[in-house]
Amino acid sequence: MLKILILGSAAGGGSPQWNCNSDVSKAVRSKENGTSPRTQSSIAVTANDSEWFLFNASPDLGSQILANRQMHPKKNLRHSPISGVVLTNGDVDHVAGLLTLRERQNLAVYAHQRVHSVLKENSIFNVLNPDYVDRREMKMNRKFELKNKNGHGVGLEIEAFEVPGKIALWLEDESKGQDFGTEDGDTIGLKISSINEKESFYYIPACAKMTNDLASRIKGSSIVLFDGTLWTNDEMASSKVGEKTGQRMGHMNNSGDDGSIEAFKNLDVKRKIFIHINTTNPILLENSKERKIVEENGWEVSYDGMEINV
Ligand code: MLT
Ligand code: MN
Repeated sequence: MLKILILGSAAGGGSPQWNCNSDVSKAVRSKENGTSPRTQSSIAVTANDSEWFLFNASPDLGSQILANRQMHPKKNLRHSPISGVVLTNGDVDHVAGLLTLRERQNLAVYAHQRVHSVLKENSIFNVLNPDYVDRREMKMNRKFELKNKNGHGVGLEIEAFEVPGKIALWLEDESKGQDFGTEDGDTIGLKISSINEKESFYYIPACAKMTNDLASRIKGSSIVLFDGTLWTNDEMASSKVGEKTGQRMGHMNNSGDDGSIEAFKNLDVKRKIFIHINTTNPILLENSKERKIVEENGWEVSYDGMEINV
């Protein structure tokens, strides 16, 4: 048994984004038919229905916990079904929620060494008291079981691997050339399995390109939650909200010859689900032609509160 709960299906900023008047943000804000609000990027997974791990911790984590009864304290005066967090990069939308997890709760935080080092340099993360919160380095391309703070396995096995991407926006260093100081490990994907590997799925909320390595990993898999940030590479410019392209931000577009819909065509993935979707992306509007194309190509668009039994 493996259960996935989508806590937040939108990209950084959410949808609607607080300062955005793009078509999607406006439509969601005015509660048009075929729209729903989405919070920022995070999922929760359990293999035993009681101990959950978060995969990324978004700035919206407080409201996400409130909105999902599975995340509520259950047992004692102080309790959380959340045993820990696994991080896939250092983006604000993926790490700021760690600050919500203060208040002396036992947790294990797994991340690539690159991400741990930036958390360490930012003393605000010291609110995660080391007496209660273990920070554990996640090695790449090696299977291991997630353990809670007390060292007990929670029945979830992980394999992390590097994918093409970019250093977090707030860590970009223009003096380091055109990739702004990006190094291997700044963006990772995860294979998440039940301990006996009977069930498994892939979680890849950011990815700049389909490589041969990635294609061969996910080929024939049962479920892939994949970077759905933008419909087109130049969407931010064409919707007049910014000038950065998807590639500049480390995300591959959904549509087009170089897009994810095309890249998945021969990979025989049973369920393909877009996640980390930007508020400019028209696939967020249920009645849009882009949403129709996505669905005709066998993709689902994740939503907050979506539950998936693997
Ligand atoms: C991204 O996914 O590109 C980042 O979350 C952007 C951001 O940090 O705002
Ligand atoms: Mn993001």
